[in-house]
Amino acid sequence: MRNIIEIKDLCVNYKISSNEKIYALKNINLNIKKGETVAVVGESGCGKSTLAVSMIKLLPENAEIFGSIKIDNEEILDKNNQQLLDIRGKKIGMIFQEPGASLNPVFSIKEQIEETIKIREKISNKDVLKNIGLNLLKEVGIKDEKRVYESYPHQLSGGLQQRVMIAIALSLSPEILVADEPTTSLDVTVQAQIIELLKKLKIKRNLTTILITHDLHLALELCERIVVIYAGEIVEDGFIRSAKDAHHPYTKALFEIIPDIKKKIKKFKVIKGEFPDMKENFKNCSFSGRCEFSKAKCRRYQPEVVRVGKNYVKCFYPLKG
Ligand SMILES: Nc1ncnc2c1ncn2[C@@H]1O[C@H](COP(=O)(O)OP(=O)(O)OP(=O)(O)O)[C@@H](O)[C@H]1O
Ligand SMILES: [Mg+2]
Repeated sequence: MRNIIEIKDLCVNYKISSNEKIYALKNINLNIKKGETVAVVGESGCGKSTLAVSMIKLLPENAEIFGSIKIDNEEILDKNNQQLLDIRGKKIGMIFQEPGASLNPVFSIKEQIEETIKIREKISNKDVLKNIGLNLLKEVGIKDEKRVYESYPHQLSGGLQQRVMIAIALSLSPEILVADEPTTSLDVTVQAQIIELLKKLKIKRNLTTILITHDLHLALELCERIVVIYAGEIVEDGFIRSAKDAHHPYTKALFEIIPDIKKKIKKFKVIKGEFPDMKENFKNCSFSGRCEFSKAKCRRYQPEVVRVGKNYVKCFYPLKG
């Protein structure tokens, strides 16, 4: 399969004062094949959302971006706003964490779905628009689609709102779906339903799916390939099903800190030490301050990415598994 996404040496900084920057992403290299389902996993503040919005070049004013992001061989970072409109929504659909915040409270679901299709697909026939809209709601598993269609966001539960957001993300038939923490604000049962829905949609529409989450177990529910980010860097990328597939000490630590609901583990460890200062551009291994295996070399130099088994790992002393 060909690569649909090719990210090369991507760096994103946020200027926060005249002499201070947050180094949110550092030399990200990531290729994703058409039809692949990939999870991007990491703690809060590690740069996951920055990576998501970089793919559609939707960064805030204070951001600087370097490197290359190719979608279907076209360089995204060279595109102007008009050209980006063809990428946003049409090539890449996006779902965000808070459906309540993404939906506009003063417009009905009908208006919000139809507005996108009307402007972008230049369809104006009311019956055609309604038909497309209702079918989208059915496709995302909404049973009473007629009621939901006429409702306003506040009249719907969080789960229904997120389904509507997925319907909107799919309304221009994108090839790629990026879901940034799509279930974080939902309770566990609804979380599972949304993951099931993403599984179904991925198959039905042959979507390339990127799930962004801080929850490794959730990632394992949907994805085979896991990309682990730590402090703006990819530290491991590959096939990870359990702790024994983890070759980077941080990935292993993630398995230990997140309780597995199925195993009913109540007590779990925390990773000792503090998340590094993102205002620093590291000269050493960013995880060395918290790593139980770190040696002098880790605290002084940057490790290269090496291949270990089926994975790529940024570590001087990768775990054998
Ligand atoms: N507009 C901005 N200006 C300055 N700093 C920012 C901006 N947006 C994000 N950051 C910083 O960049 C870093 C990466 O943020 P990002 O939102 O990409 O992380 P994340 O992994 O998505 O976190 P979370 O899990 O909390 O959503 C963080 O240190 C964050 O504080
Ligand atoms: Mg985020």
